[in-house]
Amino acid sequence: MALTDSLRSTITALRDRYPQPRSAVIPALWAVQEAEGYISAERFADIADLLSITPSEVESVATFYSMFALKPRGRHFLLVCTNVSCALRGSDGVVERLESRIGPSGSTSADGTMTWEQTVECLGACGYGPAMQLDHHFVENLTAEEIDDLLEHTEKYLPSHGEAHHGAADAHEAHAHAEPTSENGESEPRKGRRRSAKR
Ligand code: FES
Repeated sequence: MALTDSLRSTITALRDRYPQPRSAVIPALWAVQEAEGYISAERFADIADLLSITPSEVESVATFYSMFALKPRGRHFLLVCTNVSCALRGSDGVVERLESRIGPSGSTSADGTMTWEQTVECLGACGYGPAMQLDHHFVENLTAEEIDDLLEHTEKYLPSHGEAHHGAADAHEAHAHAEPTSENGESEPRKGRRRSAKR
């Protein structure tokens, strides 16, 4: 499938922001992923052509970062942290629940709604484990039991209904979901707490 005129002009505009065209490779990959849901090998060549670099240079960047999807995925996607803080709070149970509901990591639910992408080594939400990234948003203090609810009512766990993974992360959303406080003013963790991902 040929690159759309819209994507071509977006990548060209990104390229023109930088003294060196190759500096736009990550923004260009983001633009493709947001428009098409994932980045195909064909797009490596398209980006390379526009940035005057080789397709293998584009591929090397795309494959280095876990945030880039290199194959089609569902309308939403999940990453689960299994590093030590989250592991101590039960991330293994969360993973097992996902595996039993969807299949091994990399699988997409039968209805195409959810891709359970992979485990990751820290989402930067260590105080609120087990932590998960749902599209561009954090879901924290999870339990394995909550996975069923999350899969059946995914929109509840997103800051605005219907926002899919290719929507832009809302940098101000964290403020809208500020931590609740107890009577003595101390922060309290909240089940299903969610906020915009920083990655
Ligand atoms: S250890 Fe899980 S978010 Fe850091």
